[in-house]
Amino acid sequence: MENKADILIIGAGVAGLYTALKLSPRPVTVITARPLGKGGSTPWAQGGMAAAIGPDDTSNLHFSDTMQAGAGLVDAEAASILVDGGEAAVEDLIRFGVQFDQNKDGSLVLGREAAHCRDRIVHATGDQAGAAIMNALVAAARASEHITILERIVAEDLMTDDNGAVGGALIYNVEAGERAAFDASETILATGGLGGLYAVTTNPTPAQGHGLAFAARAGALIRDPEFVQFHPTALDIGVDPAPLATEALRGEGAHLVNEDGRTFMENYHPAGDLAPRDIVARAVEAEIKAERGAFLDAREAIGAAFPKKFPTVFAACQKAEIDPRTDIMPVAPAAHYHMGGVYTDLDGATTLDGLWAVGEVASTGVHGANRLASNSLLEAVVFGARIADHLREKPLDRRDEAGAPADRMDVPSKPADPKAMQKLREAMSKGCALIRSEEALYDTLEMVAELHEYETMTSGLKSALVTAELIAQGALAREESRGAHHRSDFPDAEEDAFHTEICAEMDDDE
Ligand code: SIN
Repeated sequence: MENKADILIIGAGVAGLYTALKLSPRPVTVITARPLGKGGSTPWAQGGMAAAIGPDDTSNLHFSDTMQAGAGLVDAEAASILVDGGEAAVEDLIRFGVQFDQNKDGSLVLGREAAHCRDRIVHATGDQAGAAIMNALVAAARASEHITILERIVAEDLMTDDNGAVGGALIYNVEAGERAAFDASETILATGGLGGLYAVTTNPTPAQGHGLAFAARAGALIRDPEFVQFHPTALDIGVDPAPLATEALRGEGAHLVNEDGRTFMENYHPAGDLAPRDIVARAVEAEIKAERGAFLDAREAIGAAFPKKFPTVFAACQKAEIDPRTDIMPVAPAAHYHMGGVYTDLDGATTLDGLWAVGEVASTGVHGANRLASNSLLEAVVFGARIADHLREKPLDRRDEAGAPADRMDVPSKPADPKAMQKLREAMSKGCALIRSEEALYDTLEMVAELHEYETMTSGLKSALVTAELIAQGALAREESRGAHHRSDFPDAEEDAFHTEICAEMDDDE
């Protein structure tokens, strides 16, 4: 294996693979910690991809829904780029082999999700859009000569040269049990989200925000790390990660109800079950805390069609001996999506030369304080294409010899201690939760500091701790409530919306 590439992509979800495909014919190497197509959040995406392509829809309407959901912090230029790219994104994915669900007349089935004013979510095999997109992109990437895929290669950090430019990554080859420096002129982070830092999440557990930690340690600007979106309807069936009950169920008319079968969302927002996600999540939490319970009732709205329309949710229910055709489903909020991340400009460039970010790890500005449902796959595709357009013809910048930290090269990799990891996850679910307070955030930071003491730089927990700390620090700095970030001690929004920005000083000793 050659530890050198012009362009290195870390991560092989939709963001990483799509960017790699669009770079054609420029050679690119993609590294992934797990076998290609396994692991990562994309295959779990149930909802689909938002695109204003219906006859009654326009990108202006999609733009205004995106701006409104983001609670004052969406970058209007980024949002315009996003929504204007919807139709081309759908067409391109179809060209790569994705089969979106069609109506009898051949038009695409368009579903509704919360806070969208039109039906605009394209689906595949009902609730399996993420898996369908992944399968197509994996096949296309494997068939592409310009892409080299290296599996079971774990990125452990970024390498920077004396000028602070990123020149590749420190990697660990799981099969060979060896660490190496991987040199690259351009490095693209496509490492996904961080729900796995929480005890209750809809994400795969390994999604622990490592890419964010790498970028922060290298000195990149991190924006709004406190904005973690909680999905209101994870199935509360004692399973980790918690299976998602997609918002598309409510889009099809399913209702949130209490234990006694009474609906409650009308007490919280005029849009009821289809209110913005943060509002629904806090309502569900309030009902659970008041011991009235929270359940999703799809019996009348979906009924017998459930297994065909929502096969993934149906399978998860079956494992818990729940039949959603006849039973109500217990639900609870769960950490689901990270809106903040590594700051990028509109072409995906971070504040560090040689470093780019795409997908959930990036903060392009399209989500603001609260992501509009199903805008994330669209973001990965639209902004992945922009990075590729930028890099496809770019002359290579030869980096100075990037520093592979000599003191780390021979230290064996140590997987995160499961007990320590669980402590962290519980501390995050308690302190950096749906509703936060100064006291609870300091408790989380204390736990993070305690766990840091026992960890070396080669431990699997180290990066998770850095990311957890970024979220808690951002949440402390944001003394207001906005979108997904709610402080019990600062319940109102400031009049002027502002970003939190964290940029670590480079540590000269490292
Ligand atoms: C869902 O299907 O409810 C999730 C979709 C999303 O998070 O965008």
